[in-house]
Amino acid sequence: MSDRPRSSQSWMGAAIAAGLFGSAVALSGRLELPLILAGLGAVCLGGWLGGRGRETPPPRPAATAQRHAIAEALLAHVPDPVILVDRRTLVVEANPAARALLPALHQARPLSFALRSPEVLDGVEAVLSSGLPRRVALSTRVPLERTFEVQIGALPMPDGSGVSAVLFLRDLTSARRLEAMRVDFVANASHELRTPLATLIGFIETLQGPARDDAQARERFLEIMRVQALRMTRLIDDLLSLSRIELREHVAPTTVVDLGALARQMVDAQGPPAEARGATVQFADGDGPYPVPGDADELARVIENLIENAVKYGGGHVGVGLSREDDPRLGRRIVLSVTDDGPGIPPEHIPRLTERFYRVDVASSRARGGTGLGLAIVKHSLNRHRGRLAIESTVGQGTIVRVSLPEYGAVAELPRAADQR
Ligand SMILES: Nc1ncnc2c1ncn2[C@@H]1O[C@H](COP(=O)(O)OP(=O)(O)OP(=O)(O)O)[C@@H](O)[C@H]1O
Ligand SMILES: [Mg+2]
Repeated sequence: MSDRPRSSQSWMGAAIAAGLFGSAVALSGRLELPLILAGLGAVCLGGWLGGRGRETPPPRPAATAQRHAIAEALLAHVPDPVILVDRRTLVVEANPAARALLPALHQARPLSFALRSPEVLDGVEAVLSSGLPRRVALSTRVPLERTFEVQIGALPMPDGSGVSAVLFLRDLTSARRLEAMRVDFVANASHELRTPLATLIGFIETLQGPARDDAQARERFLEIMRVQALRMTRLIDDLLSLSRIELREHVAPTTVVDLGALARQMVDAQGPPAEARGATVQFADGDGPYPVPGDADELARVIENLIENAVKYGGGHVGVGLSREDDPRLGRRIVLSVTDDGPGIPPEHIPRLTERFYRVDVASSRARGGTGLGLAIVKHSLNRHRGRLAIESTVGQGTIVRVSLPEYGAVAELPRAADQR
């Protein structure tokens, strides 16, 4: 590269003998594939460029070009961003992952133009002046919220001009998110169990004490206790089925189910309880059958959950229908839709509805016996069935939930070349 500063070339010498590799391993304390690749890249690149500075013996052009290509390829395949800066914190090299994360990163420009984190910039300065490795955190908000651990190592320059610094960015976003989800999950599950348990304990104590001889109160309290115990049973059943479905998520279903017949069964079963709540469920029989590869029990739970939600949270009229659609990417699909004319769901809640325990209105869901696990179960079942879930809602008008599944026997048709414009 013609605009590469002189320090770049001296850095390259510094990368000889895996300066990068050494500092990366020293920093991380363990060997990981990206670091190994980065290290190997550094070895090749450093070897190649270090060789360029030597008078004798002259490098063989073919061999050095090949090593350079290998080095570049290795660094390009390191999935984590790697950036090299010289002692003035001017960017010397950056792999594609780094350039994708920080589009303003350019060779020979200050790192601070692309990365405005004071912690990282101070860390680089400290590493350059002390020569000791550092580890700092970096959070980005735009375009997405992401969290990185930045490992900064020092690379002494062979020409004695000081040290350069190498930055390895490890994306911790999904690890952090998983951790937060785990903590939330345990907190939510305990909370959901604690509430009915506290009610049960309260009534048991009342029955043992003040209401010991009150036959009427006993009947009433026992009924409340039964409802609370059922609620705990339901929560545990839901949690168990969720974990069972998650375990099987990667196992494709082996049987074929007529989604139309299954939907009719579910409508027939849900009709009477819906009427008890003052709602009617209508089934629009389409042009069946609607065969899909699927597990009948799991798909029945999916349909049941959706109808139950429409009855519980929707208006008085619930519609269940089936249709077919041709998706240019996914092929022929069977679409089941459940519509209601209820109060609808504000748009900010829709992306989160499939999270465990997420409810728009916790109190009203609980009052209706909801645990907030229904749509999480739906999502995981659909993942197993290569299904899609789409929720559209207009506040004040109602909600339409669509589930699409691949039709049995349909092969996804790739768009023809002429259609690809
Ligand atoms: N058709 C709907 N109309 C309005 N709100 C809905 C509708 N469907 C779902 N919701 C909202 O989405 C939330 C999550 O639904 P989900 O089925 O996951 O849990 P739940 O119904 O509260 O509990 P569970 O299904 O475990 O009994 C509900 O609490 C409700 O606030
Ligand atoms: Mg539900």
